[in-house]
Amino acid sequence: MRALNQKKGITRVVQKSKRSRIPAPKLDTRLTDAEQFLLPTYKRQPFVLTHGRGAYVYDSTGKKYLDFLGGIAVNALGHAHPRIVRVIRRESARAIHLSNLYHNAYQGPLARKLAEISGMDRVFFSNSGTEAADGALKLARLCARTASDAPDKPAAKHRILAMHNSFHGRTFGAVSVTSTEKYRLPFAPLVPGVEFVDFNDVADLESKFDNTFCAIILETIQGEGGIHALTEAFWNRARSLASQHGTLLIADEIQCGLGRTGRYFAYQKFSSKPDIVLVAKPLAAGLPLGAILTTEAVASRVSPGLHGTTFGGGPLICATALEFLSIIESEKLLANVRARGVELREGLAKLAAKFDFIREIRGEGLILGLELSIDGNPFVAEALRQGLLINCTHDFTLRLLPPFIITRAQVREFLRLFELVLAKTPKSISAPAQATASPRRLAQSAAR
Ligand SMILES: Cc1ncc(COP(=O)(O)O)c(C=O)c1O
Repeated sequence: MRALNQKKGITRVVQKSKRSRIPAPKLDTRLTDAEQFLLPTYKRQPFVLTHGRGAYVYDSTGKKYLDFLGGIAVNALGHAHPRIVRVIRRESARAIHLSNLYHNAYQGPLARKLAEISGMDRVFFSNSGTEAADGALKLARLCARTASDAPDKPAAKHRILAMHNSFHGRTFGAVSVTSTEKYRLPFAPLVPGVEFVDFNDVADLESKFDNTFCAIILETIQGEGGIHALTEAFWNRARSLASQHGTLLIADEIQCGLGRTGRYFAYQKFSSKPDIVLVAKPLAAGLPLGAILTTEAVASRVSPGLHGTTFGGGPLICATALEFLSIIESEKLLANVRARGVELREGLAKLAAKFDFIREIRGEGLILGLELSIDGNPFVAEALRQGLLINCTHDFTLRLLPPFIITRAQVREFLRLFELVLAKTPKSISAPAQATASPRRLAQSAAR
């Protein structure tokens, strides 16, 4: 028998006491250990997920969930893809780690593949998205330094332009270009020289841009910020100003890249390229791997010892990433992302016509956001009850990041469950009227 300890949100397994026959509650130690020993950085749901298969995950009671969050855009192949399982088994028996002091069999070929699909020339492998972002900012500072800059002083061109409503990660560099105050302010002073521009506001961009900036960093589709796509006008102006001032244009595609839009990269709908592309999340199918992809011009400034990592680009992880990219091709997953994305959007549009608290549907392919006029968090809780994993970002936007392998039947299953969720959830506080209008204001109240 199981009962829920409402106060702590901890699952108790209730057993009959031998002596008194009074049920004596026994705590699930996996949850109590987590409560007691983990740094409380997340508000975790009070149950234990144990395994997954395809687009489904299961908890320790055997309950099945349709996974439309995919580990926050990581599990693009769902769970336990047979080819990923096979490559991890094979390579873990050969070499998990070797060291970047030596070549391994997969790092070079993976770099070649990433260069081919992105139009970039060179690659640095990191362990996460935030490290890729930090590395890119370091590259920008390096490229901007000239012979007339004193080696122990900031270069004349050291400033960084970032976007309001952005999210680039949690390390010092990445959090310095992330606008959300609750992620930044407790850690001040941050990396100096960062200026924020209103997302998609060309006039603001033009008024702030000058030749003191070494980099402009932007998400091609803002993910944490509530699924806001960059406009072509803003991209084109950012590209031309960056080229004019010798500033590096950094596209953070950590959440929206590697196929999620139905293209390998979201920026590939524009006619020009960035100088640096950041990827991570799905790259090694759930194993931690990030990468900085860049041009020969940037790479020509780098020499051994300037930057590095112990773990980044190990053989097991690079072999898995090569398999991930090969599966995308052989299973024609970009086409699947586009087709399922259209079906999902059409279904969501029908639901928006029925439920007037859905204000807007945003995104493309399998990165979609539904902005609500009411608090979105209770919908996440009801979705769990219905056996669905989704997430709410910025309190009012429900975020959908299903795996690239979802089938038409699973899209239909999602829409059926999601309609129940929309109907059954108790409706609460209204969003402030300005919330939809200003991603900048939303940034002040962001919740992961
Ligand atoms: C756009 C974007 N950039 C950077 C990051 C940070 O990546 P990581 O959590 O792997 O450090 C994230 C994570 O959510 C992201 O969405």
